Amino acid sequence: MTDLPHDMMLRPRSSDATREAFWGELQTYLEAEVRPGFRAHYQDVVEPRLVSDLGRIPDRCEIAAAMREYQPNRAWYVARTEAQRQAFDASRTIVDGHIDELATRAAALGNGPAMIELDPSLPFPAYIQTDAHNMVGGYEDLGRHHPLAAGATYDRALSVHRVAAMGPLVDDVGHSIAARLQQVFPDFVPKRILELGCTVGHTLLPFKAAFPDAEVIGVDVSGPCLAFGAARASALGAAVTFSQRNAEHTGYPDGSFDLVFSRILLHETCEAATRAVFAECHRLLRPGGIMFHSDAPQFDELDPYDQSLRDWDINFNAEPFMGGYYAMDLEDEFARAGFRRDAMFRLVAPSLIVQRGYRAEATRTRGGRYFLAGAVK
Ligand SMILES: C[S@@+](CC[C@H](N)C(=O)[O-])C[C@H]1O[C@@H](n2cnc3c(N)ncnc32)[C@H](O)[C@@H]1O
Repeated sequence: MTDLPHDMMLRPRSSDATREAFWGELQTYLEAEVRPGFRAHYQDVVEPRLVSDLGRIPDRCEIAAAMREYQPNRAWYVARTEAQRQAFDASRTIVDGHIDELATRAAALGNGPAMIELDPSLPFPAYIQTDAHNMVGGYEDLGRHHPLAAGATYDRALSVHRVAAMGPLVDDVGHSIAARLQQVFPDFVPKRILELGCTVGHTLLPFKAAFPDAEVIGVDVSGPCLAFGAARASALGAAVTFSQRNAEHTGYPDGSFDLVFSRILLHETCEAATRAVFAECHRLLRPGGIMFHSDAPQFDELDPYDQSLRDWDINFNAEPFMGGYYAMDLEDEFARAGFRRDAMFRLVAPSLIVQRGYRAEATRTRGGRYFLAGAVK
């Protein structure tokens, strides 16, 4: 093994690596160093004007509209959007240039320990046939039709660009959430664990590490993400299963899991699909089992200014369902799916790498905390 995080990670030519690092560092700089400064302008100039004009506290849409008139913020929107696009494109260029090498490495890792079940006939839902978060081609990678490329691009982009916030294996979220769950439910030892929308397994693998005796399965609709994820997991020695299924109706038997969860899946699904996922979680859990969904905090956890910051993601970063999901009353929806209100929870998991002082930007870009909401069946 080299200094690379795993054997499915490529070492690019230095000029390609520099381009990729440039756009990644620019993203982090814009998020961690530039954007926080706009809050003072809002508080000192924009908020007093809005309150006086409206005669009340402005809502997130009114704040976003007013802040779009502020030239430094407009410049931020443009720079942030272009940095995001270019960062994915830089990673994609590296993957495309080495795709045969990646396929050879994946084939060599085909004996496990990770397993894969692909179903090429599974329809790809219309709501994610987008360039999600400006990743051209999205998770299915329309137009490339390579069995690994979308997964390799996603893993590379997050590993390189989000290293400050999530660690080289993009696994800080999984480790932090699993640790928090073990702290809150110390007697809970799941035997079968299911992640819905696992992509390449960044969060799935930490759950195998936290519960090594459990059978751990991740489902996703994207074959290229699962195929890459299985090779990556084998390279990391993780005995997990990747299966191509729709989270809305997985096909697993009733009551067949102890823990069912998702991480940043639901802000990308439409309202009907989100409701179907909650109902599916209820069906899949055995009595006493736990469901949770982790994403950025719901709007009701944030002040109106912080809510307004999602305007960029929703309208400029190809996240059309984000506003609807964060506005959803999760507890009402969990109840509609069959969960008891007195068995619901919201938790915040402190980031383990931030606690270890990993990189200062992590605290500023992600707040060093992960939000989750769930219920015990
Ligand atoms: C942001 S990624 C999730 C990242 C992953 N959970 C992690 O923590 O690394 C969203 C994923 O959800 C998948 N997805 C979207 N709708 C789905 C559905 N109905 N069933 C299964 N997967 C779905 C997409 O293909 C994509 O891989």
